[in-house]
Amino acid sequence: MDLQREQIERQFDRAAATYDSVASLQRQMADRLLAKMPSTFDGQLVDLGCGTGDLLQKLAHRTTATNLTGVDISSAMLEQTRLRVPQARLIKSDIASLPVAENVFRWAVSNAAIQWCDSGAVFSELRRILQPGGKAFLSTFGPGTMKQWRETLASVSGDDRVHSFLTIEQLKAQLKAAGFASVESKTEMVDIQFDSVRAMFDSVRKLGATNARRDRPTGLSGRKWLQQVTDAFEETRDSNGLITLTYECCYLFAH
Ligand SMILES: C[S@@+](CC[C@H](N)C(=O)[O-])C[C@H]1O[C@@H](n2cnc3c(N)ncnc32)[C@H](O)[C@@H]1O
Repeated sequence: MDLQREQIERQFDRAAATYDSVASLQRQMADRLLAKMPSTFDGQLVDLGCGTGDLLQKLAHRTTATNLTGVDISSAMLEQTRLRVPQARLIKSDIASLPVAENVFRWAVSNAAIQWCDSGAVFSELRRILQPGGKAFLSTFGPGTMKQWRETLASVSGDDRVHSFLTIEQLKAQLKAAGFASVESKTEMVDIQFDSVRAMFDSVRKLGATNARRDRPTGLSGRKWLQQVTDAFEETRDSNGLITLTYECCYLFAH
């Protein structure tokens, strides 16, 4: 997958002010990670792709906030984190290439961020910056994510315009290859429902989750494309009149 890093940075800069209003699935995923973590802990923790800082803020109740570091590629996202967790150390960086010494952290979390990156490179960095015996609590998305989007766009323009996602088995293999001794994993399919196509588009836009594939097609575009896609999504309404987007949530617990 060839993602445009600068475009990702721009799209999350734009989404920083609206992200929290539509991130209910991401909050649910963060809660799954929190449930696996100790209720209090010592030692340094890093959040890779910390976004607006919601997870760091919750972790600040379990440790000293000065133990916390957040990393994100988007300055606007980091600004939101700074307001929520002022004592945390914040680093603007690509999480696939971290300006951090090795063996610094005892804990790492990453919620709903790795799917935007070269996950193999992120896991190598994670292994490098974690102390021996360190633990990582990770979530991301699998290939079942937005399958209705993929199918609908394919029916309109013969392409899928959806981000490519790795399977949980591929992610586990990457973690093992990076040097993690033990990896526990789990996936969960979650349906999110919308009462209109516009509400669905708005939600994806406010999350910053627009497509950043360099090879995305550009032929059929603009109003005509939007109308065709809207019409095709209208056809997918269920008996309650709702439009569904499915997400495959992947969880990986590694040490
Ligand atoms: C969907 S948001 C998740 C934010 C947060 N972890 C949460 O739980 O709400 C994805 C975040 O990953 C960041 N991100 C995407 N690619 C990145 C990269 N290569 N390096 C660092 N951060 C990245 C984005 O800027 C965004 O803040």
